[in-house]
Amino acid sequence: MPVLILKEGTRESKGKEAQRNNITAAKLIAEIVKTSLGPRGMDKMLVDTLGDVTITNDGATILKEIDVQHPAAKMMVEVAKSVDNEVGDGTSSSVIFAGALLEKAEDLINKDVHPTVVVDGYNAAADQALKLLDKIAVNVEVSDRDMLLKIARTSMDSKLVSDDSPMLAQIVVDAIKQVAEKTATGHKVDLDDIKVEKKAGGSMHDTKLIKGIVLDKEVVHAGMPKKIDNAKIALINSALEIEKTEMTAEIRISDPQQMQMFLEEENRMLKSMVDKIKSSGANVVLCQKGIDDIAQHYLAKANILTVRRVKESDMTKMARATGARIVNNLDDLTAKDLGSAQVVEERKVETDKWVFVEGCKNPKAVTILVRGGSQRVVDEADRSLHDALMVVKDVLENPSIVAGGGAPEAYIANELRLWARTQEGRAQLAVEKFAEALDSIPLNLAENAGMDPIDTMTELRSKQSKGAKWTGVDCRNLQVTDMFKQNVLEPTVIKRQIIKSATEVVSMLLRIDDVIASSKSRMPAGPPGGGGMGGMGGMGGMDME
Ligand SMILES: Nc1ncnc2c1ncn2[C@@H]1O[C@H](COP(=O)(O)OP(=O)(O)OP(=O)(O)O)[C@@H](O)[C@H]1O
Ligand SMILES: [Mg+2]
Repeated sequence: MPVLILKEGTRESKGKEAQRNNITAAKLIAEIVKTSLGPRGMDKMLVDTLGDVTITNDGATILKEIDVQHPAAKMMVEVAKSVDNEVGDGTSSSVIFAGALLEKAEDLINKDVHPTVVVDGYNAAADQALKLLDKIAVNVEVSDRDMLLKIARTSMDSKLVSDDSPMLAQIVVDAIKQVAEKTATGHKVDLDDIKVEKKAGGSMHDTKLIKGIVLDKEVVHAGMPKKIDNAKIALINSALEIEKTEMTAEIRISDPQQMQMFLEEENRMLKSMVDKIKSSGANVVLCQKGIDDIAQHYLAKANILTVRRVKESDMTKMARATGARIVNNLDDLTAKDLGSAQVVEERKVETDKWVFVEGCKNPKAVTILVRGGSQRVVDEADRSLHDALMVVKDVLENPSIVAGGGAPEAYIANELRLWARTQEGRAQLAVEKFAEALDSIPLNLAENAGMDPIDTMTELRSKQSKGAKWTGVDCRNLQVTDMFKQNVLEPTVIKRQIIKSATEVVSMLLRIDDVIASSKSRMPAGPPGGGGMGGMGGMGGMDME
């Protein structure tokens, strides 16, 4: 009698087979993003199940949009996500580096080096790599605007918006500087304070930073003013309506006069609400909830510009931008609660009418209004701006930078190769492989730019070993040169995060020698568009939709 411990239909792959499958799947994910690295990288067009098209170059977005099924592939997607959350940029690099680490590990495993030896070697190499990174990192002054601009530009140079990056970089740096708060130890930036509104139409050049907030809502009543100078803004988060009773109540009326009185009473209540607002001195009202028609009428009569159903997140941003206090109860509303702005105006943005709140005094919340030829362009611009905002935030919070273009990777790889000799036994092999994997970044930059990979890498190594530590691959001018002088600058924290995240996931993957997949997820009909995992043999691949 065989002893069965796993449920029927459960598949298991063990040992080398399991490892090989995992490595293949993870490497395939790296293959996907490889070609989109760097300024000469290509973009991807992704179509989802509903037929919506996304065109992007952002590693995290590419991997988010494709629906991978293999568990190891999913882990690679997680790397991109974690790098995206932590530092915002460098997602493609982290996945490519992780893929290279796995590829090199496979070489060693095939030569009968035990995976745990590889993992230990990799971890030691990663520690050393981080030390080397700190050694070359340059501390900077965050007041150096020029440097911040260069960093923002570098992150956008590899994107669709690269042509407009000088102008966009100004917007990004202004926005971050506006919302950054000084703390005892440095600066703190909350990206929630920067609202990015996008509207297709016009061109990228019409993209603007608004020192205030743009609300994608219109003024609620036609009779209200469309522009208020020297606005006194009330933020109200209760409804300007007569509250409905919780239970269904019935009112019996015996003569028409009572009916009239009832309506008049309602009218009076709404009027008194508006009177309270009026007496506070407000000339602009932003309400998070609904506003009764009659209340709208009275507000219009009082010449108060009113917007209703403002999003909660916008209300908090408005409070930060204008210095207003959000009021729950109208009885509490006083002149002290009002915020101020130079102008509140309804303007037409393409076909919509939006309300602009501008010229706030020392606003701690701002809006970037992104424009561009088409929806896909503004969507990608939005993502690229996010990367740029994140890198500037990174530097403000951790004022240390390195050059890009694969220079730090090449430097660390070179130094690691020397350091490897001090290591004993087979760990030495793993450290050498780690160095080779780091080389995949400059190598891919060169390949994507159409440069000869072998010539480029030899030149890079020889210059690096002569001590030119900022030598990297200049994809724009197709040469191997000092990337600092080319103004290609990146925050150190990004490089640090790439090394850490990639090493972590690779260690985790390499330690797996047994994959047990229960049959539950494999429905008889298969998931829509996919074909299930197709048995264990199919685990080496993955399904994409
Ligand atoms: N002008 C340039 N010349 C050479 N390399 C550059 C230049 N501009 C940027 N790079 C390099 O390109 C790489 C970044 O490419 P890219 O932005 O496509 O990927 P990523 O930042 O790793 O991921 P993400 O998709 O999140 O942006 C970095 O190594 C950076 O140093
Ligand atoms: Mg990038």
